[in-house]
Amino acid sequence: MIEIERLKKIFNVSGIPRIAVNTIDLSVRRGEFFALLGPNGAGKTTTISILSTILKPTEGRVFVDGHDVLQSPHLVRQNIGIIFQDPSLDDRLSASENMDFHGRLYGLSRPDRLKQSEALLKMVDLWDRKHDLVRTFSGGMRRRLEIARGLMHHPKLLILDEPTIGLDPKTRRTIWEYVHLSRKQWGMTVFLTTHYLEEADSADRVGVMDEGILVAVDTPDRLKKMVGPEIVVLGTDIQSMEPVRNFLENQIGILEIHLGSEGEISFPLPHGEYNAINIVRKLPGNIRSMTIRKPDLDDVFIQMTGKNMSLNQENASPFHRVYRGKL
Ligand SMILES: Nc1ncnc2c1ncn2[C@@H]1O[C@H](COP(=O)(O)OP(=O)(O)OP(=O)(O)O)[C@@H](O)[C@H]1O
Ligand SMILES: [Mg+2]
Repeated sequence: MIEIERLKKIFNVSGIPRIAVNTIDLSVRRGEFFALLGPNGAGKTTTISILSTILKPTEGRVFVDGHDVLQSPHLVRQNIGIIFQDPSLDDRLSASENMDFHGRLYGLSRPDRLKQSEALLKMVDLWDRKHDLVRTFSGGMRRRLEIARGLMHHPKLLILDEPTIGLDPKTRRTIWEYVHLSRKQWGMTVFLTTHYLEEADSADRVGVMDEGILVAVDTPDRLKKMVGPEIVVLGTDIQSMEPVRNFLENQIGILEIHLGSEGEISFPLPHGEYNAINIVRKLPGNIRSMTIRKPDLDDVFIQMTGKNMSLNQENASPFHRVYRGKL
């Protein structure tokens, strides 16, 4: 569905070149759900803008459903639906006017427009508000309307640029229900950028992008396995921390130990689900709790880019520092 070959995009900022996308290669199969993860400024929106013919590549070639974005932009646009990072509805029009306008752009007949508009507005729960101006909609309602509009012409490829940022969990879930329903109904391919781990986690494959480079592309499971073993977190009391640390270092040979606040000790342990219990039995001091967690996409992201994906750095677990050190 998507073929990206040696794609490069350089912006000229007051005479100084800025490389936004630095020679990436990527294929996305028909029907696949692909998620692109990356910190601010990684080049995600630029890549999406090239895929959707809004920007032209500086170098390289990009094909959508076999059509070259430079040579056949019209055919590319016919096949895609886009949900932009920035809202793009006309808020002086009503919900159904926005839908109808979009349908006309894509050459849908009037009966088709009416039928599709009704089905989709019902799907996103906005049928009751169809005559209201978008100006009077809440953020979540606008987002739902954008999704409905993006699906109006049954695109083969739906491109979503951080579609759920700032939405409440219920609205996010609802939006994903619509998207997955459409995938099932007509085998739609989905290309997504997101900051939400659980959204990327349910993708078939995830691409990690940083400073214009695709640093890794694989299934979420394989990416997590690449990061390393399980992470064991022990809850102790403050007095037990040093003896436990000494024991782990000197008797077991674990070197990457992180002492957290309030008696928390964490360390990576290969096959942690089998090995942790044997170690814990021998530990000196007072062990109150033990948690074994597998690396998540946040760990993947941090290991591969040295950056924290979550917008709020304070969300990072203390263990991340240990992982970064290992690189
Ligand atoms: N029109 C433009 N002119 C100049 N530089 C640009 C332009 N658009 C993007 N850039 C630069 O290209 C780089 C990549 O930007 P892009 O918007 O693709 O990042 P992103 O991964 O989508 O980030 P975010 O998560 O913040 O949306 C940034 O350094 C940005 O400043
Ligand atoms: Mg962006």
